[in-house]
Amino acid sequence: MNVKSYQFKNMDTVPPETLVTAEDDFAPPQFRSRVIAVSSGKGGVGKTNIAVNLGLTLAKRGIRVALLDADLGTANVDVLMGIRPDYHLQHLITGQRSLAEIIVETPSGLKIIPGASGLPDLADLPDAQRDVLLRAMMALDGTVDLLLIDTGAGVGRNVVQFILSAGEVLLVTTPEPTAVTDAYALVKVLAGYHLPISIKLVVNNAQPPSEGDLVARRLAMVAEQFLGRAIEPLGVLPHDKSVPQAVRRQIPVVEASPFSPMSTGLNRLAERLWNDVEVQQVTGISQFFRKIMALRSVISG
Ligand SMILES: Nc1ncnc2c1ncn2[C@@H]1O[C@H](COP(=O)(O)OP(=O)(O)OP(=O)(O)O)[C@@H](O)[C@H]1O
Ligand SMILES: [Mg+2]
Repeated sequence: MNVKSYQFKNMDTVPPETLVTAEDDFAPPQFRSRVIAVSSGKGGVGKTNIAVNLGLTLAKRGIRVALLDADLGTANVDVLMGIRPDYHLQHLITGQRSLAEIIVETPSGLKIIPGASGLPDLADLPDAQRDVLLRAMMALDGTVDLLLIDTGAGVGRNVVQFILSAGEVLLVTTPEPTAVTDAYALVKVLAGYHLPISIKLVVNNAQPPSEGDLVARRLAMVAEQFLGRAIEPLGVLPHDKSVPQAVRRQIPVVEASPFSPMSTGLNRLAERLWNDVEVQQVTGISQFFRKIMALRSVISG
């Protein structure tokens, strides 16, 4: 599609329901990138570690993955990876740098799109800056197989619009009751929008892993019963001291300790995640950003 000819500002008036079934001029499903938000109700449950290490694991299998650090409040993918990007989203949206200039290509093949700490909600960005972001990201569609988005935690507007627009979310929780309650709260908010999204649950930091299985089954059951939403338990990741050790060294755990329980668990998770998609479900990056713009007038927060 001709990016220049598209009137982005008109998207603001598109009701979100129409986006779900709209057949438009975007790339056909097989040429679209899969878009997955990595989110949680409670903070500090392991989203960034999972997003980074899952991205690396998939990249090592030859899948072309980009990771967008969209935790706009406290972006820290770069810290976990031990990289110091010269430019980030702020430089992109202000027009100082192009997407190609801000993307960091890591030796594994994983592409990092660095976030900007303190960047306001997308919904609060001036129109011109949102358009710049949108145009840049659309150019990525089809050049990567997967766009992973590390979002902030909670039920805020930014997180919700990222998830609803991606159409697919890796919902991360730990077995702690507070984290589980907050995960449920996020699912409840998402369910309120009645949009078809796929919710895949990862229970992280489980000790023993059987506790994680139990938590996943319970959460899925309660969401089905009270919210009528299906949650697919995707896997359990163990509590593993290699993780904080790797964080301190600023080396992703799958590289610092490739045979650790966490790395083994991430391998299994990557396998399940990648085998678990119908090509028709693939949102595509263009469609993802188009939905974000359309939803921003609908989502409160
Ligand atoms: N499986 C695990 N075993 C042990 N420690 C873990 C595990 N997963 C994450 N951690 C620890 O939990 C802490 C938080 O992880 P991380 O920063 O990935 O969470 P987050 O959900 O991204 O947090 P935030 O909401 O602040 O963005 C890190 O210090 C990490 O070392
Ligand atoms: Mg994080």
